[in-house]
Amino acid sequence: MPDALSDLNMTPQLLCDSVALQECGDAVTFEVMESGRVAPAFALRFDNQAVAYLNRCAHIPSEMDWQPGQFWDQDKRFIICSVHGALYDPPNGQCVSGPCMGAQLQPIALIEKDDQVYWYPSQHFQPLC
Ligand code: FES
Repeated sequence: MPDALSDLNMTPQLLCDSVALQECGDAVTFEVMESGRVAPAFALRFDNQAVAYLNRCAHIPSEMDWQPGQFWDQDKRFIICSVHGALYDPPNGQCVSGPCMGAQLQPIALIEKDDQVYWYPSQHFQPLC
């Protein structure tokens, strides 16, 4: 009997060159499949660490960037939702200010290897077909 998990593609997916993620620079946006639907996601670098999240605010499920790929607040310290101003801590995606304080962005695992960034599919997030 086939195992549903064995049908999932868990191969790390090339996202971009490491240099594309500059410290507190614009995000690299991409899409994943989530429960059969295309969902927007983004990756950025903070404190020399590349992180990625679903582009979906924990307050109301809307996209957060105020311009495509632009997620930083004015001081480039927090990820900001352009809708109502929730602030998220970049390393862990936790909301530290705003209407969804304490809630969290949905993380997507990344790895950097040989100057390239890959994202890891999971049971929740799969590559586009
Ligand atoms: S939708 Fe993001 S803070 Fe309200």
